[in-house]
This record gives sequence, structure tokens and C-alpha cells, in this order.
Amino acid sequence: MSHALDTLKTQAQADAGIRIVDQFPADPDRLARMSLQTCGLYVDVSKQSWSKTGFEAAVAAFEQSGLAEARDKMWTGKAINVSEDRAVLHVALRDSDGENVRLRGPEIAHDVKSARDAMRDYAGAIRSGLITGATGKPFRTIVHIGIGGSDLGPRLVFQALSPLQPQIDVRFVANVDGSELALALAGLDAAETLVIAVSKTFTTQETLANFLAARDWLVRNLGETAASAHMAAVSAAPDKTGAYGIAPDRVFGFKDWVGGRYSLWSAVSLSLIVALGFDVYERLLDGAHGMDQHFLTAPLAENAPVLLAAAQIYNRIGLDRPSRAVIPYVHRLRRLAAFLQQLEMESNGKRTSPQGALLDTKTCPVVFGDEGTNAQHAFFQMLHQSEDVVPLEFIAVQKNAEASDDMQKKLLSNVIAQGEAFMVGKSLETAEAECRGLRMDDDRTARIAPQKVCPGNKPSSLVLLDELTPETLGALLALYEHKTFAEGIVMGLNSFDQWGVELGKTLASAVLKDFAAAEPAAHDPSTAALIARVRGD
Ligand code: F6P
Repeated sequence: MSHALDTLKTQAQADAGIRIVDQFPADPDRLARMSLQTCGLYVDVSKQSWSKTGFEAAVAAFEQSGLAEARDKMWTGKAINVSEDRAVLHVALRDSDGENVRLRGPEIAHDVKSARDAMRDYAGAIRSGLITGATGKPFRTIVHIGIGGSDLGPRLVFQALSPLQPQIDVRFVANVDGSELALALAGLDAAETLVIAVSKTFTTQETLANFLAARDWLVRNLGETAASAHMAAVSAAPDKTGAYGIAPDRVFGFKDWVGGRYSLWSAVSLSLIVALGFDVYERLLDGAHGMDQHFLTAPLAENAPVLLAAAQIYNRIGLDRPSRAVIPYVHRLRRLAAFLQQLEMESNGKRTSPQGALLDTKTCPVVFGDEGTNAQHAFFQMLHQSEDVVPLEFIAVQKNAEASDDMQKKLLSNVIAQGEAFMVGKSLETAEAECRGLRMDDDRTARIAPQKVCPGNKPSSLVLLDELTPETLGALLALYEHKTFAEGIVMGLNSFDQWGVELGKTLASAVLKDFAAAEPAAHDPSTAALIARVRGD
């Protein structure tokens, strides 16, 4: 463990006995020090478990981790994804003039521009009715087929930004469970439907199986020749798409320096560009670019991604807290936890350094969550009263033109109150007074009051968007990308590979073969029995 992380851990443990709420009078500048406003987002980490010294130790861990150098290497196109020998340049996709992509600028800027131009033209032609389906009907629905990074980002953004009555709807299909495709296709007119297969590698089993099934549906409804006018693809391996009958002029590419879970900014969002318009996509990129600039230039103690990352490292490494709840009080961001699960857990759920040494620190916590207020009526009971401490992250939007003032105030009162409730808790004395107020006798009070106690002192952060716009959404997602990157640097791991997912894929294809083999391969008794059941042996 680095010296800075060691210091952070020692300090966090020294802080373990403090009450968060008592830190405010003890340090009158606490809120100012631990909150900031940038890119239409207000970030508040003042309700975290740290004292002033603990906060400084956490920020120092980032200052001493080489984050500034790593950031520079990323922006200058160095192969920081060392295990795959690749640059990591999703930031270039939202840097329209290439001002920050310093070393590989001209080459990258050219790639980015031509990819954008192709998407803008294609999307514009569909939206204006210049490109139609084979029968001449305009496209009304896109079936977007992809999984992981080829699904989660576009799905989240579409839910966040789609108009109430979209001119072109998007239905997403990820799972190889055929029900998702069946539900997506239900009620659609094939003559008005565009199917877009999205896969960085174009080898992903689920996506290819869903695409082939969707293609069969098109062929059944429109015939073989017409079907091809209803298919497009997005991939970093465009040479692989021809085998699936997709016309080369309907294939949109991106480069291998865009990681799957960072690919939302690339052609992976083609469905969104067609459905929402190119201007919305550009505004999303602009918002993300604003956060990139903030991350690059703000001092680390006043840097939004670093503040959120510092809170996580403090909780995870300093205090051994194994999970974090992400609760957007924004129905349109209801898939945020799912998006962050991939972003954070696939990036930082690792056990070795890039040199192959076992790390001696804990790494990514379990990220989970659901939208508020729904989550309050489901799992908040445990978060309030369990002895386990689950740090929370609330996300809210101040103004919502879709909501009445009354409903929006009710929503905001809940998110604000929850942060307070988790921090302040409810003491035994308060609970006893409540019981007496309800005319309980001493006996009942002695039994009930302890059950009403909430220990409090549970940490939370808040990210409050002024409004949910393409710009603030872009900034929010870039905020989390940089948070994840910064954490990876402090923990000493490569955030940009995902070797752990390979084992399951390999075994799934072996099991699939066993279903049809004359003689299945040897497995443990439990696995063998399951295979036998499916085979009907
Ligand atoms: O299996 C994990 C993964 O490789 C993710 O990293 C990726 O986002 C997802 O699968 C989908 O991959 P592809 O876009 O290549 O289909």
C-alpha cells in the first residue's frame, strides 16, 4: 500500500469515533471546503465520515498517487491500458477542436470528425424522411441491440432525454433471453423499423444472437432483399459486420481506443442521434467536455470527480466499507446505478496491479441502487438501522419542467431529508419521548423505543443538477468516468481492461457445446446434473 493510502487509513481509523454532524460546528468552513458548483452540478461531500484532517489525507492520497501524470498520459494518447496496449481516448470524442488531445491530436481529430459527419448525415436523412424503409415508409422505431457498454449508456441517455412523444422511439435489447427481443418487437411494423446492431468487437454472443433473430423477423415480414434497408451496425471491427448482411454504407465505426464502457460518446450512440437529433448529441458531448476541462484544470481539492473518488476511497480503503448505494431521485435517471455498476465495477473490480502483483488494498465496492423515493419504501430500512454502514450517493435535479412545483418540492424534500436523517439519526431519548407522546406505558416504551432508534452517522454525498439537460447529463456521466479513473490510479490498477469476464464466456460456450455433444465433458456433479437436465438425459 502506498504511503499516502497508509496515512489515509490511519487517519480514517482515527476518525472512526467522530460524529459527522459535530464536524460542522468544529470546522465552520467545512461545507465551503467540501462542496462546489461546476458544469451545472452542485457536489456536496460534507456529510462524509471524515474530519477536516481525514478529508485532507484523502485528497493527499490523490495528489501523491501520480493522478496528474496519469491524466496527462491519458490525454496525450499514451497506451495507459497496458494489458491491451491501447490508448484510452474517449475524451477525444467530446473534444471537437482537439484542443486537449495534444500528442495524437491531428490524427485523432480527423477520425472523430469523419465519424461524426457520417452519423450526422445518416441521422439527418432518416429524420427528414430522405432515408426510409424499403416500402417508402419513414422509420418510426429503432431496435437497438447491444449489451454492456453497447447498451447501458445509450439506454440511460434515451430514458433521460427522450421527448414525451418521440418522433422516433428506441427499444433496447440486451439479454439473450429471447423474451427481451420478443417484447421489443411486439406491436412493431417492420416496414417502419430500423434494427441497429451495436458491438465493439462484433463477437458478443448475446448481441449476435439477438441481431440474427431480429433479422429473421425483418426477412419474414419484408422479404430478404428489403430487410437489408432496415439494418445498420456500429462496431470497432467493421470488417466483421458484412457476414451478417449489413450493407457497408450502414456500418458506423469507432476506434479501439474507446473502451466499451466509455463508448457512449462514439457511434455506439447512433440510435440516440437518430432518435433525438444530432444537436442533442452534440450538447451531451459539450457537457462532458466541460467536465473534462474541470477535471484537467481544477486543483484536486476542488475537483468534483476527485472529491467523489476521495469519499469512496476513504470509505472503502480507509474504513473497509464494502458497498455504496447510488440513489437518483430522478425517474429519468433510474438506470444510473446499472450504468455505474459496469463503469465502476468492471473498471475497478480487480485484484492485481498492471505489473501482475497482488494488490494489498481493497478495490471497488459493490455498487447498487434504485430510484428515490421508491428505494425509501424498499431497502432504506436496512440502510438506516443496520449496524453495517453503507455510504450513499444521492443524485437529484433542482428544476423539472415535467413536474408540478408541488411534486418537485415533495421529491426534493425527500432527498434532502434522507441525507439529514442518515447523518443525524434518531437517539434513544427522542424515541422514548415519541413513545410517551403516543401514551405508551413504561413497559412498552422500553421495548419499542430501542427499535425506533436510528444510529445515524451514516455518510452520504449529493450531486444536484440544476436541470436535467443534455449538457448536465454529459457532465454527470463524465464526472463518474473521471471519478472511476482517479480511483483506479490511487488503488494502483488498470481501469481499462476486463479480464475477469472471460472465464464465464469460455465456460458458457463449453456448456453450450455439451448440450449437443454425444458425450458431455467432465464437470463437477452439480454442473453435470444441470447440463443433464437441459439435455433431457
Ligand atoms: O463482457 C464484457 C464486455 O466486453 C464489456 O466490456 C462490453 O461493454 C460488453 O462486453 C459488450 O461488448 P461488445 O460491445 O464488444 O459487444
